[in-house]
Amino acid sequence: MRIAVLTSGGDAPGMNACILNLLHHGFMKYHEMFLVMRGLKGLYENQIMQVDENNLNWDYLNQAGSFIFSARFPEFINDYEVCIKNLQDSQIDVLVIIGGNGSLEAAKLLTNHGIKTLFIPATIDNDVNFTDATIGFQSSVQEVVNDFYKLKKSFETHNNICWVEVMGRHCSDIAINTGLAVHPDLCLTHQNKLSLEEVVQQVWQKYQFQGYAMIIASEYVYSYEEQLIVLSTLKKQSENQVDPRRIVIGHLQRGADVVANDLILANRLAASAILAVDQGFFDAAIYTLNNEIKITNYQDLTEHKRDYQAELGIINNNEWSK
Ligand code: F6P
Repeated sequence: MRIAVLTSGGDAPGMNACILNLLHHGFMKYHEMFLVMRGLKGLYENQIMQVDENNLNWDYLNQAGSFIFSARFPEFINDYEVCIKNLQDSQIDVLVIIGGNGSLEAAKLLTNHGIKTLFIPATIDNDVNFTDATIGFQSSVQEVVNDFYKLKKSFETHNNICWVEVMGRHCSDIAINTGLAVHPDLCLTHQNKLSLEEVVQQVWQKYQFQGYAMIIASEYVYSYEEQLIVLSTLKKQSENQVDPRRIVIGHLQRGADVVANDLILANRLAASAILAVDQGFFDAAIYTLNNEIKITNYQDLTEHKRDYQAELGIINNNEWSK
């Protein structure tokens, strides 16, 4: 079969491992392998190239990013017909899309128009709710854990207060999992948005008790202006003795070192994708649930809502644990 691979949306550590393993397992089963450069945008621009089996650069295996590049391409919703034509012109039998939520919708749309697709979840946000963990999520959490401890050393030394903002546009999994790992003084997520007064009060209490305070907050839970209000109120409360700072970890999370669990996940999902092709199983997502590999048709995917109230209770040591 002629199998094409693309990465779409925000890059995630482990995407390269997934691409290389797809190519490797595909070649082992005598498939012809193709890469679509620059995600769906590249597909629209017909950037499809065949891969020479003897030309795999394994140096990318444990590197973050995507050596075939990625892009945001909201225009896809209107421009998908060109993408379909390009796939047909190159006689691609199946397209494997590696990406997050938005990329899954693109895969479904292509499938509804007669293109065979497979979807592998890879995004740092972990916002693909039918799987345990998307490729890249665990590496990003490890990055935030490392960064948090570095920041803590400095803020502890200067008796200061730090608001650490982590990524996760609609999903606070990075904040919650980091929170479980590092014991912040307060963890603010989409599930537990406290009032600004409550945030100030809780942080101030911690500060008075231990002489510094570390907050982890998921992005978009509080606006920039709200964050500044919290920090300036704390400064005022301390009679200018503290100068609270806001540190945005940002894209360091996407460029994180790839942890072993993501390399392992990438290889398991890639091998399963080639197995699915060989068994004639298409139009499906390939993922893990309870650490078992699942291959499920798009229409049968079910939401596994994660309930984090207990975890938030453990982190913030408050009523959510009840
Ligand atoms: O890929 C997911 C993500 O990193 C989100 O956590 C974040 O909100 C967003 O992408 C940032 O994307 P961009 O770099 O396109 O602004």
